[in-house]
Amino acid sequence: MDKIRIRGGRPLHGEIIIRGAKNAGLPLMAAGLLTDERVVLTNVPLLEDIRTMTALLRQHGLAVEKPNNEGEAGRVLSIGGPITNTEAPYDIVRKMRASILVLGPLVARVGEARVSLPGGCSIGTRPVDLHLKGLEQMGAVVSLDGGYITATAPAGLRGATILMPFPSVGATENLMMAACLANGQTVIANAAREPEISDLAACLVSMGARIAGIGTDRLTIEGVDRLHGTTHPIVADRIETGTYACAAAITGGSVHLRGGRLAHLGAVAQSLAEAGVEMTEQEDGITVRRLNGLHGADVMTEPYPGFPTDMQAQFMALMSVSDGAAMLTETIFENRFMHVPELNRMGARINVHGSSAIVRGVPQLSGAPVMATDLRASVSLVLAGLAARGETVVNRVYHLDRGYEAVEEKLAACGADIERLPG
Ligand code: UD1
Repeated sequence: MDKIRIRGGRPLHGEIIIRGAKNAGLPLMAAGLLTDERVVLTNVPLLEDIRTMTALLRQHGLAVEKPNNEGEAGRVLSIGGPITNTEAPYDIVRKMRASILVLGPLVARVGEARVSLPGGCSIGTRPVDLHLKGLEQMGAVVSLDGGYITATAPAGLRGATILMPFPSVGATENLMMAACLANGQTVIANAAREPEISDLAACLVSMGARIAGIGTDRLTIEGVDRLHGTTHPIVADRIETGTYACAAAITGGSVHLRGGRLAHLGAVAQSLAEAGVEMTEQEDGITVRRLNGLHGADVMTEPYPGFPTDMQAQFMALMSVSDGAAMLTETIFENRFMHVPELNRMGARINVHGSSAIVRGVPQLSGAPVMATDLRASVSLVLAGLAARGETVVNRVYHLDRGYEAVEEKLAACGADIERLPG
């Protein structure tokens, strides 16, 4: 298994290109199930999770093609063709929970789906009850058997008013896609409003869907008989943007994040400013620079536009070398502090009390061998390694490859001493 070795202490300077968001690309690919015509996505990130979704769509019968593997043209994915199989098998779903996003489109399009029930994962139990309840309200008959969800609606789905008890990202996406082909009007109230959901909605509209309230917590969808093909550029990855902003800040450097969008960072921009990090928006991206010292800033994870749970680990790495203290409270997932013991092995002073972590900044971290436990935890250890004295080796890098494209190349191009050690 590959490892990443970092020799820390070098400030980053240069430019990093921000690619299309993984969390937008995955539902956008699932939207390809809603039509026989071609859905062409551009600005596709080259990531393991995108490959997993490609495999899943292919076994549903779709042709998923990369017209060209070279340069920017290689970032185009063309999805199309009839659905020949409505089962999403355990072997793929267990690798990636976002596989559940095929459920709504399959039922809406062909009236049935059998999708392996995603299990818990290292960051929490992550049930899918909101996806299932919403589909039931739209008339699907849902049952669980042998570890699989079966949902059927032979006469089609019908519009419904769905009040979500919690603004789940995945449930909002699944139900919005299903509602596009349902009979009549669907209202999703207390919907999640992450930029990736708005990007999916924009793509669906360009396929002929009728969606009002995009970007708000109340989506109104008028079902249509059929959707058609489209070409859609995937929105820039705000988590990749925030992660590299933390990399610039933790090393005391200055980096231009080409393609990054300040407006999509939500509370991350304010928290970074409070910590002493300057972010200025230009036409083609954001320039990030640490002003003087790093200051402690408290954050609480919340649905967008609050501070994203997917940035909590990276911000914790940053706070571990601040000149004060910070309290980081996790409200989205119940077990998302697995990076804490690893950061502490590098000399951080972090205590966890229930769903909060108290971080007391130290002047310097020291390099150590560490173990990546999930995607964002992995990258927080890379950030810590960039700032630490000496050598850090991050093991189990496959987590990182699920969501970050060529992380070591991007950081090395800005002056980091970092390399991948093939395992
Ligand atoms: C998405 C993101 C993930 C991010 C998360 C929260 C993708 C592919 N993944 O995951 O990176 O960390 O949003 O911003 O976009 N819940 C239920 N029942 C449900 C659905 C969710 O209880 O039916 C709970 C979950 O257990 C969790 C919380 O709601 O505690 C948030 O989950 P959700 O917003 O659905 O996250 P995902 O779509 O899985």
